[in-house]
Formats: sequence, structure tokens, C-alpha cells
Amino acid sequence: MTLQEIESTKTAALSEIAAASTADAVEQLRVKYAGRNGLVPAMMKGLRDVPPADKPAFGQALNALRVAISAALDGRKAAAAQGGGSRDAFDFSLPGSWRGVGSIHPISEVIEEATRIFAQLGFTVADGPDIETEFNNFDALNTAKHHPSRDARDTFWLGPERLLRTQTSPVQIRAMLAKKPPVRIINPGRCYRRDTTDATHAANFHQIEGLFVDTAPVSLADLKSTLSHFAREMMGQSVKVRFRPHYFPFTEPSVEVDLTCHVCKGKGCAVCKQSGWIEILGAGIVDTRVFRNVGYDEDCYGYAFGMGVERIAMIKHGITDLRLLYTGDLRYLRNFL
Ligand code: DAH
Repeated sequence: MTLQEIESTKTAALSEIAAASTADAVEQLRVKYAGRNGLVPAMMKGLRDVPPADKPAFGQALNALRVAISAALDGRKAAAAQGGGSRDAFDFSLPGSWRGVGSIHPISEVIEEATRIFAQLGFTVADGPDIETEFNNFDALNTAKHHPSRDARDTFWLGPERLLRTQTSPVQIRAMLAKKPPVRIINPGRCYRRDTTDATHAANFHQIEGLFVDTAPVSLADLKSTLSHFAREMMGQSVKVRFRPHYFPFTEPSVEVDLTCHVCKGKGCAVCKQSGWIEILGAGIVDTRVFRNVGYDEDCYGYAFGMGVERIAMIKHGITDLRLLYTGDLRYLRNFL
């Protein structure tokens, strides 16, 4: 026996142990090296024949061999017990396979939230198709033949009397043709206009329409309280609401409604063009001519409103380019988890 032999036994044993992939294989190596009749005890016995002067060096080397092999066997045995290496083993320390949890798109979120708020006020959701009749989209809404929104540059005409709706307002007509007052509906849906897409416009966008009709008087004060309540629920109690006189063919009087700018809180900044306000919807008291067009009694009373969904999502989340909402790019949408 030489010191060299002891060293090479150690190298061989350690590499065999490292390669053992099952508990059985480790056990076989334990018997081979450390077992009662194994190699290490046999070499220990050989110490007797070593000349006394060399004994300390051989003793040390053999001891180191024994310790190294037994440590390697223990380590491998523990790994094999955890299944390390065997084919159907499960390594609990590996990262799990990740299935992303989905989240609601900001546009759907606004629609769901608005539906919830208006449901509390007794509004139900009415439906209407994206392909509308000229009557529902324009005529019944008192929008004259010469009105610019009827122009082929503003509207996707599908034929002489069919078009992709330019607003959700035709659902007002559908709701009134289907039912006598009282009516309290909202309609979230897609609208289409021949707008060139930029940071704040898209040819395909969403609105939420609202209509309230009753036989008892309904005033602008009712509209104001409803929309103010909606704005506070949607944007937070500190938001301020401004009603500005405006014109729509189907309401009289008509208003546009602004909210305090979310970025500067009303002080004036680039986002609100220094005005402190951001417009989110159009509204008004339903014009008697609209009631006439659907065959309602002229002493019905009602208010209506139509809001831009993207606009609200942008204000809520500080989104500066609405195109980002349509890309479907998860790197962006994950911001709203
Ligand atoms: N339809 C209008 C638009 O797209 C918004 C609107 C204004 C809806 C007044 C209404 C309303 O119901 O009463 O600009």
C-alpha cells in the first residue's frame, strides 16, 4: 500500500459516489467502500504492515479517506432520499411552472364599474347592435339630413340605410321602442367613426349611454345629481364636476360634463391644456322630438347621457396614449393588475 494508492482510491470512490443516482446505488457503494468487508476497513488493517516511521502519514491519509467517503455517502444518500436524480423524482427547490393570472382590461373595468354604480341607482343594461339603421342612429335622434356626422367622411356606411353606429345613443331609441316609461337603462358598447387614430382618437372606441324617462317631471337637477354621484363613485370623492352648456340634436338643453384634471388636480397642465378640466361626456334633457319619434307621449320627461369609456380609463390610470389600450401587449396591461 502506498500513499498514492490511498489518494487514487479516494478519487475513484468520490466520483463513483457522485454518479450514484438512486438510494440503492449509494447503498452498494457504501458496502463496497465503507462496509465491514469494504475497501476502507481493509486498507485500515494494512496499516499494521507499514513501517513505524511512515505510520503517522499513512494513518492521516487513511483517516482522511474514511471521512471523505463517509461524508460523500451521507450527502448522496440524503439527495437520493429526496428523489434527487431518480426519474420520477420531484425537486421541491425548482421554480414552479408559472401560469399567469389574468386581469380585467382597463376598458372592461370601467364598463363593469359604471354598470355597478348605475345598477345601484336602478339602471339596467340594455343591448344594441354595432350595425345600426340610419333611423336609430340619426333620424330618430333628431339629427338632420345635412348634419356633418352623417357625412361619409365621419361614418362607416354599409349601404343606403345601414351603418356602424357612430354613438351608443341609438340604444335609447331601441329601449323606448321596446318599452313604455319608466325607462332607466345604460348601454356600454362599441362605436365607430372615421377618425384618424392618434393618442386620443380611435376609429373604434367605447361609450356608455344612459337614458332615464318618466312620466313625472325630470329636471337638469336630477341629471346633475346622478352624474355627480357617478363621477365621485368612479373617480373618488374629491373629484369636482363641471356642467357646460352645449348642443346635441337629441337633448334640449344639452351639456358637456368635465371632471377636474387627474394630473394637476385642477391647477392647469399639459394634459388638460391648462384648463384644469377634462371632458368626459355629453348629456341633456331628452328633446320632445325624440319622444315623438318613438311614439311616446309628449309629456314624458327624461335625461340622457353618453360617456367615453377610454377617456375615463385614461383619466383613472393616467394613460396618455389610448392606442396602448388596444395593443393587447401584456407588458403594458400588467400595469393594471
Ligand atoms: N352621442 C353623443 C356623442 O357621441 C354623446 C351624448 C350626448 C349622448 C348627449 C347622449 C346625450 O345621450 O344626451 O357625442
